[in-house]
Amino acid sequence: MSEVHYFRTMPESGPKSYPSRIAVVGDLGLTYNTTSTIDHMTSNHPDLVLLVGDVSYANMYLTNGTGSNCYSCSFSDTPIHETYQPRWDYWGRYMQPLISNVPIMVVEGNHELEEQAENKTFVAYSSRFAFPSEESGSSSTFYYSFNAGGIHFIMLGAYTSFDKSGDQYKWLEKDLASVDREVTPWLVATWHPPWYSTYTAHYREAECMRIEMEDLLYQYGVDIVFNGHVHAYERSNRVYNYTLDPCGPIYITVGDGGNREKMSITHADESGNCPEPSTTPDKLIDGGKFCGFNFTSGPAEGKFCWDRQPDYSALRESSFGHGILEVKNETHALWIWHRNQDYYGIAGDEIYIVRQPEKCPVKPKVLKPAYGSSNDI
Ligand SMILES: [Fe+2]
Repeated sequence: MSEVHYFRTMPESGPKSYPSRIAVVGDLGLTYNTTSTIDHMTSNHPDLVLLVGDVSYANMYLTNGTGSNCYSCSFSDTPIHETYQPRWDYWGRYMQPLISNVPIMVVEGNHELEEQAENKTFVAYSSRFAFPSEESGSSSTFYYSFNAGGIHFIMLGAYTSFDKSGDQYKWLEKDLASVDREVTPWLVATWHPPWYSTYTAHYREAECMRIEMEDLLYQYGVDIVFNGHVHAYERSNRVYNYTLDPCGPIYITVGDGGNREKMSITHADESGNCPEPSTTPDKLIDGGKFCGFNFTSGPAEGKFCWDRQPDYSALRESSFGHGILEVKNETHALWIWHRNQDYYGIAGDEIYIVRQPEKCPVKPKVLKPAYGSSNDI
C-alpha cells in the first residue's frame, strides 16, 4: 500500500464559492524546463491543476528508452509508433509531490495518442487519470465536464470526432444546455490545439474544429478558453469568428510547460513566415481535412495570414511558464502568467477578466429533438 495522502476537494458549486487558485499548464513533458515550471507552480500553491494536454511525451522515446526526436515521423508515410511507457512512470513519480495533494484534471493532447496494436489509442492517458465522464453524461475519456465551485469546466477532444452529427457535439449541446449560470456563473472550456494562435507552428491547424464548434460555445457565452499545443504563450482579446466581439471568449494558449520539443518563436504574420495553407492541417485532426480558407473580411481579407499581429492577439511571448486563474466573484477573475525565468510570484502577464452577463446574455438555441426525448425540446 502507498503512503496516505490528503487533498482538499473543490468547494461546493455556487456563485459565491471558488477555488482560490487554479494552475493552468500545457505540454509539460519531463525536462529541466518542466521542473522549473512545476517548481514555480508549486510555489503558487494551487487548489486545482488543469493540464491542457501533451503530458509525458512517452511517444517520443523508442522502446529502449532512447529519445527519438521524431515528432515529424508521425506525419510521414511510415510513422514510428514506438513509445516508452516508463516515461509515464517517471512523470508520475516526479509529479507525485504536487498532484498527490492537489487535484489535477487532464484533457488529451496529440502526444497521448500512442497508437498500438489493434488500433488502440490513448490507452495510457485513459488509464492513468480519473475522468468524471459518466458523471457528466459522457461516454468517453476524451470529453467531459465538471464543476469547481462556481465554475463549470468543459474539456473537449480535438483528436476524436467533433462533427455536429457526432457524439461529442451532441454531448456538448446537452452539457451546455444543462449549465445553470446562477449556480456556476463562469464557463471555461479547454482543449489541446488552439483556434486562435498567431504562431507559425500549428497555425490554423484546428480550423475544422473551430468551424464546427465555435458557434455553440459563443451562443452559450463561454468566458475563457484554455489551450496548449503551441509551445509559447498567447492571450487573445475577446473574439468570435476572427472578429473582436465583446461577448466572445478570451483564448489563452499555455503550451509553454517545458517539454523536449522546440519552443515556438516565429509568427505567421511576420514576413516569410505564413505557412502554405495546404501544409497546415494535422492528419490527427479530422483525418487532415482542410478547412483553413483565406479570410473573407477584415484587415487580412483575401489572405491566409495577417501582415501584422492580428487584432485578436493581445499578448504573445515565447517563454516557458504556467498561469494561475483566481476567480474572485461572479464577474471578476484575475489571470496571471508566470514565466520560469522570473522570480517566484512575478507576473509576465496580468489581467482581470470581467464577465458582463447583462451585456452578453446567454442565448442558447432551442435544442433539436435529437436526444430521443420530447422533454429535450
Ligand atoms: Fe500538442
